[in-house]
Amino acid sequence: MNDEYRLRMEAQDLTKEPPTDEPDRQYYFMKKCRGIVKKKSEELGRPLTCSLTSFGCQMNARDSEKLAGILKQSGYVLTEDENADFVIYNTCTVRDNANQRVYGRLGVLNGLKKKNPHMKIALCGCMMQEGAVIDKIRKSYRFVDLIFGTHNIFKFPELLCTMFESDSMIIDIWEDTNQIVEDLPVERKYLFKSGINIMFGCNNFCSYCIVPYVRGRERSRSPKDIIREAERLAKDGVVEVMLLGQNVNSYGRNLEESVSFAELLREVEKIDGLERIRFMTSHPKDLSDGLIEVMKESKKICRHLHLPLQSGSTRILQAMNRRYTKEQYVDLALKIRREIPDMAITTDIIVGFPGETMADVEETIDVVRQVKFENAFTFLYSKRTGTPAAAMENQVPEETAKEGFARLLRVVQDTARERAALLQGQVLPALAEEVNGQDDSLLTGRLSNNTIVHFPGDRSLIGRIVDVRLEECHGFYYTGHTV
Ligand code: 5AD
Ligand code: SF4
Repeated sequence: MNDEYRLRMEAQDLTKEPPTDEPDRQYYFMKKCRGIVKKKSEELGRPLTCSLTSFGCQMNARDSEKLAGILKQSGYVLTEDENADFVIYNTCTVRDNANQRVYGRLGVLNGLKKKNPHMKIALCGCMMQEGAVIDKIRKSYRFVDLIFGTHNIFKFPELLCTMFESDSMIIDIWEDTNQIVEDLPVERKYLFKSGINIMFGCNNFCSYCIVPYVRGRERSRSPKDIIREAERLAKDGVVEVMLLGQNVNSYGRNLEESVSFAELLREVEKIDGLERIRFMTSHPKDLSDGLIEVMKESKKICRHLHLPLQSGSTRILQAMNRRYTKEQYVDLALKIRREIPDMAITTDIIVGFPGETMADVEETIDVVRQVKFENAFTFLYSKRTGTPAAAMENQVPEETAKEGFARLLRVVQDTARERAALLQGQVLPALAEEVNGQDDSLLTGRLSNNTIVHFPGDRSLIGRIVDVRLEECHGFYYTGHTV
């Protein structure tokens, strides 16, 4: 696919004005950037390097692959080393600790930039959609060269050119957009698996959550564009796709010709070469029987459903604006367990939401005991400025929240272990993903239900689906052998 991007870029005529149509306009600026990068690298007698760090969720990781594609076409060599000619942080702001990590690392970058004044620094992603963050960077982090947000990420080539031509900080943040620009370059992290955005934004406004404010309103991509991307990925060697959206269950609602998520999955299923389909994230209130039916019948949809609970207390769920009760959630999860017994269910839980008491935490623990999640990501509530929950008066003291959190975590770990142990001795297909970080005689693979298994194997197996006997359970993961 790299050749296709390159040809499209080379076809641009820089003696003319930039095209007004997208994505051609961006291919024009990419070509212009390539010239600038080439000239600088000739002056230095070495290639220009770029380090790109992605914080946060799968959506951000996919956005970073798009940034990487543009950087590569512009002539940069991507590196892990932050002492690079260009450093970019694709930020997250879902909880405050994500923001704090960015500020901490910016401090370190400042030191590096003092030694290398040619270094360029760019910030993008969710955190940049917050006015207070921009004010702070303007005031205290003046060495940053370029800031853009989530809605204009497709404009990255044009912004890069502006950055090269200017000595002052470039800031370009859009409030919202209904534009979806297709067909820009992408540089995948893995050759054999890929995310595919099926929708952007979120309309749910859970009262604790900043996402609807920083990612804007829900917009679905057309099924035609999604299928075309999936087909091209399959031709390029991808065997596993992950369909991405803040709430995939409401896919298609804003499209002229309304298509449901279940219908979209049926179409993706038909694509030759694709062997596994995953998706993320499902909102319990929108998960239809139609979807359960499709998952049950499918040969390709993975046996893993991420179904954020957030709280098991109906009172707190209501204050969170989640629009389901404890009982509705439990009924749904148990229905899935009944219909598709080998389906792993994972979840997200927040502890310490305003007004939450230990009795509420006990309700959450009760749900965990009933559903027995294969895995649960537990978070301490983080106050996000501008969300309704931040203005609630009954904020929970950190100590109380931590106590509830510790109690919950113990039950989460026990029940998850119990579920994992059920797989003991089975032979199941695993996608070999990488060489094990600690022991290079081992490969790390992933089962359809998202469980990790380490097994001896040659790196030539990476990207292939192999049968593995699950021999020893280590809590969340297994070790085993291919059969
Ligand atoms: N505080 C703590 N956790 C949060 N999440 C979202 N917003 C907050 C917040 N303000 C968690 C939710 C969500 C996951 C991605 O992050 O559990 O599902
Ligand atoms: Fe936040 Fe709710 Fe949207 Fe998830 S669905 S991102 S929790 S607002």
